Amino acid sequence: MADTATPNVIRRADYAPPAFLIDTVALEFDLVPERTVVRNTMRVRRNPDASRAANFELMGEQLEFVSATLNGAPFAHAHAHEHGLTLDNVPDNFELTLTSICNPAENTTLSGLYVSGGNFFTQCEAEGFRRITYFLDRPDVMATFTVTLRASKADYPVLLSNGNLLEEGDLPDGRHFARWEDPFRKPSYLFALVAGKLVALEERVKSGSGKEKLLQVWVEPHDLDKTRHAMDSLINSIRWDESRFGLELDLDRFMIVAVSDFNMGAMENKGLNIFNTKYVLANPETATDTDFANIEAVVGHEYFHNWTGNRVTCRDWFQLSLKEGLTVFRDQEFSADMAGGATDEAARATKRIEDVRVLRQMQFAEDAGPMAHPVRPESYVEINNFYTMTVYEKGSEVVRMYQTLFGRDGFRKGMDLYFKRHDGQAVTCDDFRHALADANGRDLAQFERWYSQAGTPRVSVRTKYDAAQQRYSVTLTQGYGDTAPAARETQKGPLLIPFAIGLIGKDGHDLPLQLEGEARASDSTTRVLEFTQTEQTFTFVNVAQEPLPSLLRNFSAPVIVEYDYSADQLAFLLAHDSDPFNRWEAGQRLATRELLTLAGRATTGVPLQLDDSVVAAFARVLTDETLSPSFRELALMLPSEAYLAEQMAESNPAAVHAARQFVRKRLANALRKDWLAVYEKHRTPGAYEATPEASGHRALKNLALSYLAELDDPAEAVRLASAQYDAANNMTDRSAALSALLNASAAKGGSIEAQQALDDFYRRFEKEPLVIDKWFALQATQRGSAQRPVIEIVRKLMAHPAFNLKNPNRARSLIFSFCAANPAQFHAEDGSGYVFWAEQVIALDAINPQVAARLARSLELWRRFTPTLRDGMRAALEKVASQVKSRDVREIVEKALA
Ligand code: TRP
Ligand code: ZN
Repeated sequence: MADTATPNVIRRADYAPPAFLIDTVALEFDLVPERTVVRNTMRVRRNPDASRAANFELMGEQLEFVSATLNGAPFAHAHAHEHGLTLDNVPDNFELTLTSICNPAENTTLSGLYVSGGNFFTQCEAEGFRRITYFLDRPDVMATFTVTLRASKADYPVLLSNGNLLEEGDLPDGRHFARWEDPFRKPSYLFALVAGKLVALEERVKSGSGKEKLLQVWVEPHDLDKTRHAMDSLINSIRWDESRFGLELDLDRFMIVAVSDFNMGAMENKGLNIFNTKYVLANPETATDTDFANIEAVVGHEYFHNWTGNRVTCRDWFQLSLKEGLTVFRDQEFSADMAGGATDEAARATKRIEDVRVLRQMQFAEDAGPMAHPVRPESYVEINNFYTMTVYEKGSEVVRMYQTLFGRDGFRKGMDLYFKRHDGQAVTCDDFRHALADANGRDLAQFERWYSQAGTPRVSVRTKYDAAQQRYSVTLTQGYGDTAPAARETQKGPLLIPFAIGLIGKDGHDLPLQLEGEARASDSTTRVLEFTQTEQTFTFVNVAQEPLPSLLRNFSAPVIVEYDYSADQLAFLLAHDSDPFNRWEAGQRLATRELLTLAGRATTGVPLQLDDSVVAAFARVLTDETLSPSFRELALMLPSEAYLAEQMAESNPAAVHAARQFVRKRLANALRKDWLAVYEKHRTPGAYEATPEASGHRALKNLALSYLAELDDPAEAVRLASAQYDAANNMTDRSAALSALLNASAAKGGSIEAQQALDDFYRRFEKEPLVIDKWFALQATQRGSAQRPVIEIVRKLMAHPAFNLKNPNRARSLIFSFCAANPAQFHAEDGSGYVFWAEQVIALDAINPQVAARLARSLELWRRFTPTLRDGMRAALEKVASQVKSRDVREIVEKALA
């Protein structure tokens, strides 16, 4: 096909308003799995703000065209083609009815209308609606929708769509119908329908203004016992958006539906959110504490889209971060408030640390590779490839910086103005920035660079203390290192970086902060410096003693900070910094530095050593009962292998693994008694509680177990893990025990205890797909050994009767876990991981291009790897490039090879 051989690049600069507008849409569906008939009646008019086009071009894919009627008469000048339908010489204002047929049963892409578990679902973002009917499938075309669903009543007793239910009733031949109306104008990507055998947990709540709302969580009947947490999360989300942003639910009814075949996490369709089962279903026996937290976050995220995304939507897909970055920021704040309220900084910091860890491991890596792009990209081939860490997570950091600059109140004023100006519109990132600027009386022109500049900025810091003058100067320099090649092409000038700083005295307490020219010290011992030039010096006066700087507190900007701390200074910060984020950060810096030195040595074969002072610094955290368990767990967890490999001049996963394992063993053996004591002290006997405190205890206890499993003699750990496995009344403890058993026995190539636990786990949860996903993932991410490489286990599991490549969760649990979460095994010297990767990308490409393209990304950093691995990686990429069919995968591998 010509269009896939030379993919078309879509450019932001080419945006033009649509030639026609569609004001209303009436859809009628006759739902049959292999042959669904869709009748689509639209009121269309010329767009007064666009240049005149003679023909009306509608998008359509994989549709069988049946007929067109214009103003009630058959229209002969409609031509169906590969990309849609062209209607020649249409009038200025008309009613158009189009009839077409699609095949949901054969739709394995999970985009458009598809069948999963015998039920019908839709996924329309970004460009799935054109797979359902011919349409102007772009977000700046907004219409009101009425939807009539007709289907067999026995097979599809529940018929759902967006908005409010107008009527339902029986039809001849055992069929029935339902008619839905969404009173709000929306772009087509927010359309949804669901039909099938489902049941709902229901709750009625009153919104802020006293209106009654019906809330429903729809699932398959056997999953009804796993819906309570999602419902609670929804109710909390509704309350939170009212209290924090004054935003109320605008429909009488709000529905969440769970589906097990789903490409991503969830989708914010107006009034009818559709979720991956992974982000809905939970009870203590089947879901871990992490699952519970993720469900709360994703339910919040989709609910918050109702205002940030739906009421105010995106003009075009280059503006994606307008809704995604903002909504991620909102869900992060929601989770932080749920954990720690507005004031418990230590509890809030736990969430912040987790979010920053993801950003640094995943987004910084993306920004250093061939897929690097600005938060607002300039071009794309396939928009589905731009639902990225940069658009979501860096985008969220960009939004967070407004709040850091203006405070919570200033941010709220900006949000209020944004809705006042743009409710009901499709707008741009610039519109959002202008609302924030105008509400706070500021010129934010320089801030636009955060949207247009790719690459991770580096801020290097120099400090100087003048004892005689009691002056302390901090000089900041901003730029991009060699690892951000994309930055060079897009660089436009310095960024406005909110740089939060504190100064710490010899006793570990914060010093008062008074900048040169100020009359007195400020109340707060943290200051947000507005760093706007390439190089800038900030001078603090009346500094009575030489301080230790605490830099970029709470990670106030998505940058890399370079400052030459000594190991002693980092240990001091780890023990004393009043900013909990930076306490954690100090420990990570200390560990990262040691681990990178050790990884360098591991490549030369020199025996490894770890300084006692590092062990001592970790011992202090481990035994400090004044610190919260969840903080200690995060502080004692070493930086991930992926993050460490990314910091090396040439990534060497085997060396990183050797170094990290060496340190884990050293900490395990040196602190054995302390780990055991922590293990005992933080048990949570009795009924399972899902509170942040209880989950903090479990996290720390299970971290202790994972270190104990590293002991030279793991017999004790195996005993503890086996007992924990057998006694567990929750999935957090059971899966942690299983993981400890697998890793404790890895060096021997397995053990009876580990195998028995694995078999028991499978039997016990055979009917719970989400738990079987964990069973696959635990095996794919296990340590492995020379005798028993994990690739062999993975290949065997591919043939397991429960494996199914068509189900994205299952494919992710085995294939992605191995290729993206087990670097030391995936990057085996013999290249076996890469051969497997190529096979799976090609197999998935034929089934589900979106999922295939995600897997394709696990080799994109190949040029930065150690030379011995590069050839195998390139060969695998070239193999995929030569066989790929989809635009999605082609864009990824071509960018990687370019
Ligand atoms: N808008 C969705 C969200 O942020 C994500 C999304 C985009 C999506 N495209 C999708 C989900 C395709 C499923 C399938 O939550
Ligand atoms: Zn989103």
